[in-house]
Amino acid sequence: MTTKHLEAETADLLELALSAARVAGGMLLVDRPADLGVAATKSSPTDVVTEMDTAAEKLIVDFLRARRPHDGFLGEEGAGEAGESGIRWVVDPIDGTVNYLYGLPAWCVSIAAEDADGAIVGVVEVPTQRETFHAVRGGGAFRNGVAVRANTGIPMDRALVATGFGYTVERRTRQAEVVRQLLPAVRDIRRYGSAAIDLCALACGRVDAYYERGLNPWDVAAGGLIAAEAGASVGVLRVEDDGSNLVVGAASPLYEELAATLEQLGA
Ligand code: IPD
Repeated sequence: MTTKHLEAETADLLELALSAARVAGGMLLVDRPADLGVAATKSSPTDVVTEMDTAAEKLIVDFLRARRPHDGFLGEEGAGEAGESGIRWVVDPIDGTVNYLYGLPAWCVSIAAEDADGAIVGVVEVPTQRETFHAVRGGGAFRNGVAVRANTGIPMDRALVATGFGYTVERRTRQAEVVRQLLPAVRDIRRYGSAAIDLCALACGRVDAYYERGLNPWDVAAGGLIAAEAGASVGVLRVEDDGSNLVVGAASPLYEELAATLEQLGA
């Protein structure tokens, strides 16, 4: 493929990802039952969220498949197809599900297109904040169309660090211990509840760093590219026996310092 063709295809992938994320984000915002949080105290609230999650993923996958029938798919709600085009879409219809359930604003739609070298396009749509983050590999990162950069030159004891916690008791017990030891060494910790939004916050300087163990590919595919294109180093460290890895993001040299500290703490 010539450079021109590649650029045209990338632009096409970006347009499709932006459109799919906008449509799904709009649907999730408008169709969210007003009493969803109240339902949380009743019978089976998660079913409603699962329904919304599944409907949003179907909307995204159907939209993309109609336009690019040969692509592969990997989605949190089960989409999984190898495809034949060399492009795979990685979709998280709602990242920040618990926030969505409770009516908190930090949830988003995350869509990435990957080729053999990793993410080529990433879009994170945050409907409640009217924010769209996007990046194209080698082309920078943007918030509502305006270029963003990660903070640089932040020493660790001044760093605002975002993190997240997994869902199992074992994992979060260990994560709590790591946070206990890390907290005195940094400015403060933030836990928004959406890995993709954390990575976008890193990209636009709302936090200085981010780390979390045990993320799934759909949590990190789009946000990871956006943070990297904003100048942060984003690394996948310490794969453990259970297959879980530690994602760390920050601009250098904070990245190296934080990664070494997390390593020491057994994060
Ligand atoms: C979760 C969020 C959360 C992170 C968890 C993820 P979900 O994704 O990104 O911030 O701490 O590890 O699983 O379940 O809301 O799609």
